[in-house]
This record gives sequence, structure tokens and C-alpha cells, in this order.
Amino acid sequence: MQKKRVKKSAPVFNGVPHIIHGGDYNPDQWLDRPDILAEDDRLMKLAGVNSASIGIFAWMALEPSEGVYRFEWLDKTLDRLYENGVSVILATPSGARPAWMDRNHPEVLRVNADRVKNLHGFRHNHCLTSPYYRNKVREMNTLLAERYGNHPAVKMWHISNEYGGECHCELCQEAFRAWLRKKYHNDINELNAQWWTRFWSHTFTSFDEIESPAPQGEMHLHALKLDWKRFVSDQHIDFMRNEIEPLKRIAPDIPVTTNTMGTYPGIDLWKLAPYIDRVAWDSYPKWHNDYQEFWETGMQTAFLHDVNRALKPDTPFMLMENTPSLVNHHKPANKLKRPGVNTLSGIQAIAHGSDTVQYFQWRKSRGSAEKFHGAVVDHAGHENTRVFREVAQLGKLLERLDGVVGTHTYPEVAIIYDWENRWAIDDLQGWTADRKNYEETCMNHYQTFWKRGVSVNVINMDCDFTPYKLVIAPMLYMLKPTVAKRLREFVENGGILVTTYGTGYVNENDLCWLGGFPGDGLMDVTGIWAEEMDALFPKDRNAVVFGENFDGLAGSYEVFDMAEIIHVKDGCEVLATYADDFYKEMPAVTKNRFGQGICYHIAARTENALMDALYDNIIAEHDIEMALGGEFPLGVTVQQRYGDDETYYFVMNFNDESKQLILPDGVFYDYATEKEVSGILKLEPYGVAILTPKEQTV
Ligand code: GLA
Ligand code: GLA
Repeated sequence: MQKKRVKKSAPVFNGVPHIIHGGDYNPDQWLDRPDILAEDDRLMKLAGVNSASIGIFAWMALEPSEGVYRFEWLDKTLDRLYENGVSVILATPSGARPAWMDRNHPEVLRVNADRVKNLHGFRHNHCLTSPYYRNKVREMNTLLAERYGNHPAVKMWHISNEYGGECHCELCQEAFRAWLRKKYHNDINELNAQWWTRFWSHTFTSFDEIESPAPQGEMHLHALKLDWKRFVSDQHIDFMRNEIEPLKRIAPDIPVTTNTMGTYPGIDLWKLAPYIDRVAWDSYPKWHNDYQEFWETGMQTAFLHDVNRALKPDTPFMLMENTPSLVNHHKPANKLKRPGVNTLSGIQAIAHGSDTVQYFQWRKSRGSAEKFHGAVVDHAGHENTRVFREVAQLGKLLERLDGVVGTHTYPEVAIIYDWENRWAIDDLQGWTADRKNYEETCMNHYQTFWKRGVSVNVINMDCDFTPYKLVIAPMLYMLKPTVAKRLREFVENGGILVTTYGTGYVNENDLCWLGGFPGDGLMDVTGIWAEEMDALFPKDRNAVVFGENFDGLAGSYEVFDMAEIIHVKDGCEVLATYADDFYKEMPAVTKNRFGQGICYHIAARTENALMDALYDNIIAEHDIEMALGGEFPLGVTVQQRYGDDETYYFVMNFNDESKQLILPDGVFYDYATEKEVSGILKLEPYGVAILTPKEQTV
């Protein structure tokens, strides 16, 4: 069934061959309550927790005044956890600073885009450039590495916390100018040409005239904004590398990670990933919301997991944070995870390639902003709660999944979701201003594959396309260097490519391609020329209509938001045309054979049913693998992970009612129920099954 396999990866923690189950633990908030710390030990055992992330916001506990360090509490905590068999992910505390530091060294405080300087408070509020802060962080990390680099409990470094935001202080302005000088070879004319600064007389005569974007200043040079976003992303990564350096130097065997935030736009994770050993992310879907079906929330979360898996495809990632129940940030309602959903969402992460299920947070804090955020241990302080029981139950299940550790997924399909493309689309003035929806569009292309149990890597445009049968490039507005060429080679050599409206408008500096869209030589690959983009008001509708059973795609599909007016080149087949308006009967969906491969182009934003029909066709025609046959009730999906000789099927029911599916021939073992199953598999509401073919169980 499966073509190529690489060997299983090592477990996340050296010497701990299990799925990691744990979370953020803040003993520094409870140092005056040894009784509670002792309870933590007892409760962690009961919950099946084998890991704790410590010290994430503990700078004040570690350095209560400048140059005065207190490590005794951390020594004791690590010893205590080690004795209890709990492995530690030790954080560097740069995510929040003591008040004394902000008072004594105000350069560490951020300046906002409007040039107003922040006060002490909040967190993640540091200047990305400040030499004082960078030195201070190195000093702290050096002390941590020297003291704990050999502690047997410490299995990983947790670098800072959710890097994000930006700083516009003078130090950052200077760093931005230096970044620009480097990029444009110290040649202001080169910058002016790339930024198209003759527009509105915005030409610069010196790098010193350049300022970061500001609401009361420069907001109209899109290339400047693009470079600023690149700079901020690079500066975060540089800050992180500065943090990592002493850790790797002093304790080279301890892996590092940093917890990121899905597709948070501020940091290009493809640039960050090479500097960490494991990808780790914090997942906070709005489960049970009032604007989409529950399964759609599940599908979108799956997309985010697949972004994270693809960043290091041969190394399982980590679900570093998720809530065991509710959050306290999603207004207007912070809903409880319904019974079963904690297991479902945890197993979903594993299904998509995580080797951990970790929570924010182990114990609710007694005061301040997160006192009502979900936690394994509530203010009640004991194990007799619904949430604790569910966590413990998942803990038991995870203990049975040692065989899953280090297994991999080998998708035949890739969807391009690219940070820089997103930045350019977000800034673009025009189209449907507040409905450009790049990310959502990528997810809408993804949903067919999710429904069919087809694994997908969500990649960026710089990735290698050759491992895939099918590459989907929704709204690939920006074409960075070599992308068009590599897409061309991919199709020439037999790949299937899908492009859409908005493809190939600008280069990497946001300069429009001349000579027609899609530019940079993609026109003959797609077989189309996109002449105009029509934007539709929210209530406007058009449709695309397929010819009589054309390629199995009979029927009409609703069009909304965007409709591109395209012309086909010789040899390009028109599969569907517009139903309405002055471009009625003009091409809307096309198929172009190019070399050994095919490029489909979808010229308008349509309902998902069109993607379902088109992709079902492509899946069948090109024999793309669907887990367990791919025929599931809506909201049920299957993901698979491969070991050296074994396959695990993760069956998940994203419905609040029970569902069933028909299994392929043979007997399976279900790790969830610890029973054999064949024929019909019945899933509880929000239920999961983790199956292996019987003959491969040991
Ligand atoms: C005004 C300005 C022009 C141009 C148009 C765009 O009319 O004078 O320079 O910006 O708006 O609509
Ligand atoms: C983020 C942070 C945590 C906590 C959670 C709450 O993920 O990293 O410290 O604030 O949000 O959901």
C-alpha cells in the first residue's frame, strides 16, 4: 500500500519511549504552599502525566532583583518531578520580564507602530533588538544551562513563549535599515526600483530616511510593508537564536523547541523551523462555536496540524498547549469542551503527527487573567472533576500508544499556504477588501481531502514539489524566484497542479508581472490568461456550469466574492463556464495538459462542492491513497501513520452523535476499546478508534 518509508524517529525525550502527556506547570506561583506542590505529585500520577513544562514566566522567581539569583526552588522542583517520573521541558523565561528590569532599562520596552512606548505589564512585550535584553537573556540562559544541563529530569528546552508582535523603537528602526542595506546591497536606487517609490514621489535619497510602517506615516509602499514583515520575522528568529546559542553550547544534547501559534502571521515558521529540533505549537480552536459546524472546526484544526507536521516532515511535532476544557479568551462565550472532545482533540493531534498531548495548564492560577482558563486541576484542587477524569482517561489511552511514537505520514497531496504570499495578499488594496480570505480559501481546498482520509502536507512555495502527485496552489498571488520554474517542471514531469483566481500577479517585491497574469512563465503551464478580476458584493452570486457530465463534473456551482475573467490558450480545455453577467459563457474552470502533467485552473471562488467533485475525480484518476477506503459519514475522518512495518489508522468522529463506517476486509485491533473489530465500526459521539490490522499487532 505504501511506497516509501523512512525509519521511525526517536522519541521526543531521549530515553522516554512514550507519547508525552503533560503541560505548563507553574510551581513558582505556589512556592508558599508545599501542601499544594505535594498534591501536584499525587495528581500527576493519577492523570497519567509524564511531563511538565516549567519556568515559562518565572524570571522574577529566578532573579528577584538585578543580579540576585534564586535557583533553589527550581532545584527542588526538578528533583521532585524526577523522583516522580515526570520529565521536564525547561523554559527560558524571556516571555515576561520583572518590573525592576523595565524600570532600570526602559530600552527593553516595545514601541508600537504609532511610536507610543509601552509601559511595564502584559507579557511578550520586549524590544526585539535591545542589546541589554539580548545580553540579559543570554546571561540567564547560560546560568540555566550550566546549572541544569545535566539534570536527569530536563529533556528539552522551551525557548521563550509564543514569540510575536513587533517593536518600532529607534533600535529596531536602525536594525531595519541595516537589514535593508544588506538586502539591497547598500544601493538606495536598487531599493527605490524594487519598491516602485516613484509612486507619489516617495523616492528615498538615503537609507536613513526610511521608517517602519506607521498609521500616521508610510503605509502605501507595499514593498516596504512586505520587507518590514520579513524583517520582524527575521528579528524574532535572530532573537531566538541568540537565546539558543548558550544552551546548545553548554548542553548540546538537550533538544530545543519553541511554542508557536498555528499560522500566526507575524513569524514565517518556514524560516524559524531549521533552528529548532522539534516543531511545537499551541492549538486553541474555537470548539462548539456558533458560526460553523463542529466538524469544520475539526477540519481547520487538522489543516493547522498539517502545517506544523510539514515543517519537519520526518520528525513528529508536539502539541505543546491545548486546553483540557475551556479557554478564557474567546468572546462572547467561552464554552466548555463537551465530554469526549478532550480525547478527540488530543488524538487528532497524534493522528496528524504529534507525539505529545500537552495542556495549558496543569493547575489553575488563583488570581489574575487566567484564573478561569481551563486546567487539569481546578480550584477545587482534587481529582473528582469531569475534566480531570477525562484527562486521566486520555492519559491511559496514550500509555497504550508507545508503538505510534516516531511514526510518519507520507502525503501524496500538498497544498501551498505561504506566509509571504499571505502578507502580500493582506496588504493588497482592491478585490474584496475584507473577504480576501487567503487562509480560509486554502482550508476550503483542504476540506475534501480531510473528508476522504487523504493526508496532505501544507507546504510553502519554496518547498520541493517533487514528492507529490498533486499540488494545489490556492491564490498564489506572489511568485517568488524559481517558483514558476519549479511548478513548470513539476507539471512537465507528470504532476497535477491546481491554480486559482489571483495567481501570479506579483513578484517577491510586490511588483506586478508585466505581459499578463499569471506571470513569470506560468501562462503556458496553466493555459490561461487572466485579464480582469471582478469582485462581488456579499450578496452577489454567479455560477460556474460544467458541460454535460464533463470529466464527471456535471452541474452548476455557486460563485461568490471573486470571479476572474480568463481566456484560454490553444489546447486548453474549458470544463466549465460562467452562468451569468457580461462574462457569461466565458471559461471558469479549465484543464491544460502540459508535458506529462495537467494543470487545472479554477477562475472563481466557488462553494466547496466544486472542490469535492473536482478532487474526487483527481483522487480516483490518479490513484491517490485514501485511508480505509475514504467513504465516511460527514464529519468522520481517518488519518494514518506508518511505522517501520505497521500502520495506525486514527478514526475520528467530529459529530455530537454516533456514526458508523464500514471497514475494509480483515480484523483490526482498536487501541481505544482494547477490542478487535471487523465489518462495521461504531463511533460514539466525538468518539475515536485507533486501529491496526490484526496481523500486525504484537
Ligand atoms: C484620487 C486621486 C488620484 C487617485 C484616485 C484613485 O482621485 O487624486 O491620484 O488616487 O483618487 O481613485
Ligand atoms: C497561550 C500562552 C499560554 C496561555 C494560553 C491561554 O497559548 O502560551 O501562556 O496564556 O495561551 O490560552
